[in-house]
Amino acid sequence: MAPFRNLPDATILTDRDALEPYRHDESHVLGTLPLAVVRPRGPAALKELVRLAKAEGFALVPRGAGTGKAGGCLPTGQRAVVVDFSAWPGEIQVSPQDLSLRAPASALLRDVKAAAAAQGFFYPPDPNSWESCALGGTLATNAGGPNACKYGMTRHWVLAVDALLEDGEIHRFGISSVKANAGPALGQLLIGSEGIFGFIVGATLRLTPLPREYTTLLLPVKHWQDLLDLPGRLCGAGYLPSAFEFFDPAVLAELRAHGPEEARRLPGEALAILEFDERGCTSEPFLEGLLDLLGPVAEGLEVASDERQRQGIWAVRRMTSAFLKERHPKKVSEDIVVPRSRLGEFFTGLERLGIPSVSYGHLGDGNLHVNLLAAGETEPALLERQLMDLFRLSMSLGGTLSGEHGIGLAKREAFLVLSDPGQIHALRALKQALDPCGIFNPGKVI
Ligand code: MLT
Ligand code: ZN
Repeated sequence: MAPFRNLPDATILTDRDALEPYRHDESHVLGTLPLAVVRPRGPAALKELVRLAKAEGFALVPRGAGTGKAGGCLPTGQRAVVVDFSAWPGEIQVSPQDLSLRAPASALLRDVKAAAAAQGFFYPPDPNSWESCALGGTLATNAGGPNACKYGMTRHWVLAVDALLEDGEIHRFGISSVKANAGPALGQLLIGSEGIFGFIVGATLRLTPLPREYTTLLLPVKHWQDLLDLPGRLCGAGYLPSAFEFFDPAVLAELRAHGPEEARRLPGEALAILEFDERGCTSEPFLEGLLDLLGPVAEGLEVASDERQRQGIWAVRRMTSAFLKERHPKKVSEDIVVPRSRLGEFFTGLERLGIPSVSYGHLGDGNLHVNLLAAGETEPALLERQLMDLFRLSMSLGGTLSGEHGIGLAKREAFLVLSDPGQIHALRALKQALDPCGIFNPGKVI
């Protein structure tokens, strides 16, 4: 407690029981016990924390709601202080004229989306944790979600960020307009940086009018490989789904056998959920065009007839990660990406590698949650080889080892080994320039 005694405007936790939960997020990795957890309530606390971290040689580890999937908010080493932004002040403010919204890092994404929707606007990022995650975490990790298929990632919806830098001050990068071109976009460097260059405390987000119509489709298939060329075929023909999700046969069978009521009714041996949200997507010509394009694979297509059914379908998709985790508590869930044009090659390669896994996720943008359900019972060296093989396969097809969860602690080693050395060199040079004392989230990403 001693160095924190005079910290202004903050709550400080040092009790072991209070610190223990901060060793966890929603990934499979475990952090060390922090020295303390600080919940700042204003800039003075952050300024003093930065000064203390430099003077006393401890690390600062940012945390939002702790829903991350890569261990990015977990302390490492013996001397880390978690900076928990849950008490960071600020209101959510919508500016309809600017098509923008300002919010503090502590705002829940659910509340950000609801504030936009209340005025007829849409903030698309929708990671699976959208009801419980904090905006700050989504910015630090550049969160994705099903809607990324059409709308892109968090970074595509950020106009400006307010960030704590190593001088202890909060700086604003960007303005409340999509047009801002005075030099390189430094704010974009902070988004997805997982706090290694500084901590984002608030942001101005871009909004778009709320979609007025949805068509939600269940597409069951007998041979799940029949799904794999559909994302590319749809996009190539000018149909851009706002979401295109899938369950492979193993995930679907497990959901149907042990999942909630809605899951027990899901059809097919494998299943895709497609959603469209553009104007006219509920019209007959739209559906007929789509059916023509899908051809014989559309045989069992079901259209959600009302909002209740639509919500039921999404509820099953949204609970899949937690459902599998409950049944396989030591599973490892990856989030590799391959270009949608190479999905078939990916799954052929995965089978050839013989990695025991099941898959579901965001087929429409090639972001696949390959789950190693038996990871807990697999010898660690073998598990590591399997994961490296999986990452190498994705990269050999022009993909990457993380589409939305980030690198954090969980994938750091693999990221360092598999990345272009020039990229690591550039990232380290940036880290040295922006954080010369190494206080911001060390041991993550690079
Ligand atoms: C999801 O889309 O369900 C999550 O990102 C997946 C996960 O928990 O691995
Ligand atoms: Zn996901």
